[in-house]
Amino acid sequence: MTAIHILGFGAYTPERRMSNDELTRLVDTSDEWIVSRSGIRARHVLADGEQNSDAGTKAALQALEHANISPESITHVLTATCTPDYLCCPSTACIISSNLGIHGEMAFDISAACSGFIYGLDLAKGILSHSPDANILLVATEALTRRINWQDRGTSVLFGDGAGAMILGAGSSTGKAQLIDSKCRADGAQHLLLTVGGGSNHRYEPGDAVQPDFYIQMQGREVFKVAVRSLTAICREILSRNELEVGDIDLFIPHQANLRIIEAVGSRLAMPHDRIFVNVDEHGNTSAASIPLALREAWELGRIQPGMKVLLSTFGGGFTWGAALLQF
Ligand code: UT7
Repeated sequence: MTAIHILGFGAYTPERRMSNDELTRLVDTSDEWIVSRSGIRARHVLADGEQNSDAGTKAALQALEHANISPESITHVLTATCTPDYLCCPSTACIISSNLGIHGEMAFDISAACSGFIYGLDLAKGILSHSPDANILLVATEALTRRINWQDRGTSVLFGDGAGAMILGAGSSTGKAQLIDSKCRADGAQHLLLTVGGGSNHRYEPGDAVQPDFYIQMQGREVFKVAVRSLTAICREILSRNELEVGDIDLFIPHQANLRIIEAVGSRLAMPHDRIFVNVDEHGNTSAASIPLALREAWELGRIQPGMKVLLSTFGGGFTWGAALLQF
């Protein structure tokens, strides 16, 4: 089996920070409600004129520098996002390629909501298995605040903007870590529980106002239950098929959607608190970007050291979910 190396990873957080108190001026809510229901204290928001692809490009530049690799060496650009610059085309991956001067073999977007980054890892594994000379840039970037209806207090308090990126390759190069395994799942039966629309569902004439489904819509309570169940199950599955126990995991980086979901999954897995990485308090839910953002932050904080096994897991709209195991 081809060894998949993680050559470098990076992240980008927009400068503008919006606290819960600031949000209370836009929507009928309170810091106390948001913190107690979600653990979120702030989120970051793209500046006017700053695009989702700009955030992804900045994360990619940091990943390229970390990998010590030039953009010219990149053969594939995969971008996980549910808030692309353009809904249909060009892909955000093509815009990021252009920003970086990459003229590779493939550039395309992955639409798997919050699971896009783990889906991207699994796809990268497939590409590298049949093209071991490829150098893959996987970017996960989101501009979710551009799809927030600020009058909807059930969703507007939860999401933020951000980006993460990773460079993957195969062959003899050692890299920072190895991707030991990844596993993805999907079940569309409940796809209407979490939507971000604006697609061809509605016929628009020039000048029409957008329909309500243009914005994030979510039945939070239902999504919560499925998220806890699916995240727990996929973690158990990937551990079992690698003959690992929870105790073998040095750091668990779950999707940062809600602290209560993270705690519920942690307790079902019997994962010690000090092995679970949390940064949802500072970023809110950044969808596909959440895991690579957390990974870079954990690494910068010294929470990841050589020799460690790191478990990633995610859940998102669709529904989609997945997990990955990294060996540092
Ligand atoms: O990336 C994966 C996708 N998303 C998620 O993982 C999110 C999953 N769901 C959740 O995280 C939680 O369901 C929420 C945080 C969205 C909501 O928490 P909840 O405990 O399920 O609250 P709820 O929706 O059942 O609402 C409880 C009450 C309601 O009032 P009443 O009917 O009890 O009087 C809501 O109207 O809280 C009210 N409420 C709010 N109050 C203040 C809902 N949103 C707010 C708000 N501020 N922002």
